[in-house]
Amino acid sequence: MTLSTTQTRVRHPLPPARWPTREEAARSRWFSPIALGRRLAAEERTWVPAMVPWRATEDGFVTPEVLDWYARFAEGQPGVLVVEATGIRDIPSGPLLRIGDDRFIPGLRKLVEIVRARSGGRTRLFIQVLDFLTVRRRPEPEKFFGRYLEITDAVRGQLALWLDDKRWREASEAGVREFLLTADRVTLETVLTDRELEALDYGYRERVWDMHLPRIRALPQVLPGLFAEAARRAKDAGFDGVELHYAHAYTMASFLSRLNTRTDGYGGSLEHRVRLPLEVLAAVRERVGAEYVVGIRYLGDEVIEGGSRIEEAVGYGVRFAAAGVDYLSVSKGGRFEDAKQPKIGEAVYPYTGESGYECMPTVLSDARGPFGRNVPLAAAIRRAVREAGHATPVVTSGGIGTFEQAEGILERGEADCVAAARQTLADPDWFRKIRLGYGHLVRRCEFTNYCEGLDQRHKQVTCKLWDRKLEPGDASVKRASDGKRRLTPPVWSPPAPA
Ligand SMILES: Cc1cc2nc3c(=O)[nH]c(=O)nc-3n(C[C@H](O)[C@H](O)[C@H](O)COP(=O)(O)O)c2cc1C
Ligand code: SF4
Repeated sequence: MTLSTTQTRVRHPLPPARWPTREEAARSRWFSPIALGRRLAAEERTWVPAMVPWRATEDGFVTPEVLDWYARFAEGQPGVLVVEATGIRDIPSGPLLRIGDDRFIPGLRKLVEIVRARSGGRTRLFIQVLDFLTVRRRPEPEKFFGRYLEITDAVRGQLALWLDDKRWREASEAGVREFLLTADRVTLETVLTDRELEALDYGYRERVWDMHLPRIRALPQVLPGLFAEAARRAKDAGFDGVELHYAHAYTMASFLSRLNTRTDGYGGSLEHRVRLPLEVLAAVRERVGAEYVVGIRYLGDEVIEGGSRIEEAVGYGVRFAAAGVDYLSVSKGGRFEDAKQPKIGEAVYPYTGESGYECMPTVLSDARGPFGRNVPLAAAIRRAVREAGHATPVVTSGGIGTFEQAEGILERGEADCVAAARQTLADPDWFRKIRLGYGHLVRRCEFTNYCEGLDQRHKQVTCKLWDRKLEPGDASVKRASDGKRRLTPPVWSPPAPA
């Protein structure tokens, strides 16, 4: 079931939390070790999934703020920490981390070193690597009609038909541009193609099935090498593993999408849609060797009309497992297809529609509520993978913020590791607090998505709860560039014995 926009949303209270004693935590499943790949073991099944904090330089390098961010997560000593989505190409991508060239390795190595030091060596560190296609901002109509729209014979022909005037077939480019700029909506909807209208209303956006574009046609030839090199750099920088980002709104998820209609053997049937993701996995494996951890994050459900559902996701999971992936991290939704219209000058954000809700559910929810909402997807994938004879660990996430939730999921065999993004953002120390018997001191995430609003505007991501410990004149606290918010959470150490 998905959250329909017509359903009434109700505000759900946070689930009650009973925190374990230190001994109970030590005996628990969540705090027990797990093997990941052939040689690596995580000391706990606690997991921090990738979160982009928008702290890299404009050209994709690690900054002191990136180091502070991961150092702070490392202090909570999760079993696994996954570094944010990091671009595999050497192209400008704003303040998103990049791994598309060897010059990025020294910065990434520092990140590895600080996580090792601050976690006391307890945390295994992976990095999520991603490819994405072009998404432009929603243009001013003047710019769109004045420059971006290609004035083709098709546009002229449509105008001639609609206005019942053959002279439009010979009209000058400037004349067509001028006319369209002041044309009414019905005319635009008649004359322009769906994609041209989308470029006007939402901003131009490429699809993996845009086979008329040479660079899109070439993706199956280009991507295995790009991912493999990125993985090799991750290994050189000292990461314990690499996570292939096959989820949400990006290139690889779009290959897996049921909407993928490519006709070159990489779209259409399930076998063809999964072909490139498998070829990328094989190329990465070949480059980094059998013993290096290679995981995949992908969608258990795209939550869009005509998109892939759990039936497909189960098939993908079994194929990835058979191909030797070391873990499967299951996410949900987060697609562009149902995103809200952005303001002029802003880019469409894939977490604003129903699929976005399902990716990062909030307390304003349908009757089912946001807590552990995506677990059934991971459970179905895990069951199918086990039935096919593979022991591949499955990671679940989404609305998890208490020990009991996590322990229940593991006890019922719904997943092998339990991840928490926003709860760990709210309190990076929460794993350690629980392990040491201070669960009652956990700062609990309210699941109202202030942090996600910052992500949407590509502003430095912080949690609203951190600012409750911010004295106006305290110069010792690093602040976000707006000067108003704490850039890192307040520090915590276990209370001294009485
Ligand atoms: C600020 C922010 C940034 C995120 N960035 C990524 C990302 O880079 N890669 C990814 O796979 N998921 C990303 N996510 C999604 C989370 O990993 C997670 O799947 C989602 O928040 C649901 O889990 P939660 O309920 O524990 O927060 C992000 C989430 C947030 C809140
Ligand atoms: S800002 Fe809100 S949703 Fe985000 S981590 Fe903090 S409490 Fe949770």
